[in-house]
Amino acid sequence: MIGSANGVAISITGLGCRVPERVVTNDDLSTMMDTSDEWIRERTGIRERRIAEPEEALSDLCLPACRDAIGQAGLRPEQIDLIIVATVTPDMAFPSTGAILADQLGATAAAAYDLSAGCTGFMYALAQGYGMLAGGLAQRALIVGGDVLSKLMDWSDRSTAVLFGDGAGAVVLERVAGGGFLGFELGADGSGGPQLYLPAGGSRTPASAESVAERMHFVQMNGREVFKFATRVLVSSAEAVLAECGKTIDEVDVYVPHQANVRIIEHARQKLGIPQEKTVVDVDRYGNTSSGSIPLALADAKEDGRLQAGKLVLMTGMGAGLTWGSGLIEWTDGGSG
Ligand code: ACO
Repeated sequence: MIGSANGVAISITGLGCRVPERVVTNDDLSTMMDTSDEWIRERTGIRERRIAEPEEALSDLCLPACRDAIGQAGLRPEQIDLIIVATVTPDMAFPSTGAILADQLGATAAAAYDLSAGCTGFMYALAQGYGMLAGGLAQRALIVGGDVLSKLMDWSDRSTAVLFGDGAGAVVLERVAGGGFLGFELGADGSGGPQLYLPAGGSRTPASAESVAERMHFVQMNGREVFKFATRVLVSSAEAVLAECGKTIDEVDVYVPHQANVRIIEHARQKLGIPQEKTVVDVDRYGNTSSGSIPLALADAKEDGRLQAGKLVLMTGMGAGLTWGSGLIEWTDGGSG
């Protein structure tokens, strides 16, 4: 799917994020499994990640992030009429984390649901929120991306456990006077599904003593295949959305790629021809937070002053599905309140 904005200016008017308090360093991991700080840093660029407490669920991270985003937009929760939560680690299969959050926030006028598109979920949710606002179905959307993948990790499998961390972010989308989203490109290749998946816990293989014994409730990944896929789609999707919107790579001011691995980001950045100083990287501090990755990186870029009004921001995600998605936005200041 690819398309440019239809003339209705819609932008991000509030942004919030949260990570768990607990920091787990590479050295901490090396006491739990056969790995080392050197291996993890060299192969992934990750130094540490945040890991949720046993009692901490996705909505516990999302709630303060949503409150910050709504506050920054100068809105009250009752004014939000759409909540989409992109995640593969909802609090439970149902009710949706979106509905749970709507209740906790007091967003009584909102339609609320979850969206599953792997680590690309936040980009899919942004595009969906844009479409709902542009079509006039909603006026003020809260788009949330977050995951608590630590709960689905096999902590005895060094090839996956070292890569991921927990975190969440939220943005408010509203109509604005000018600027905002220019377009999106989203895609899926289900034939690559088995490269990154959670075999049990759904209707194909419901939870059973056998599925637990066979460790089928943990994330399984073919790292090399996912690496090849990631380096390919980060480039092709970014190029497609830029062409669709009539923009060139040189016009991009801030590049926000999915934070899976520094080597993947570096490969995409060089292939695209984007200078290092325009590229947001925080995977060293958070690991791969899946659907939380892009909003957390946006928050970092905002914090360091790179997200100024008028700047052209290119975001690209990729993940399980296999899926990918890019969005292009001309950053704007603040909300309508
Ligand atoms: N510590 C030490 N050694 C390790 C570790 C570890 N944590 N993990 C693997 N190794 C070993 C392997 O066993 C292998 O040993 P061997 O040669 O004796 O067999 C060796 O290191 C090399 O393994 P490779 O898999 O070839 O290492 P590679 O350089 O490909 O890096 C990695 C592996 C980091 C997983 C890489 O393939 C990668 O980043 N893939 C993409 C993963 C990803 O980003 N997934 C998520 C994207 S989608 C989403 O966000 C949900």
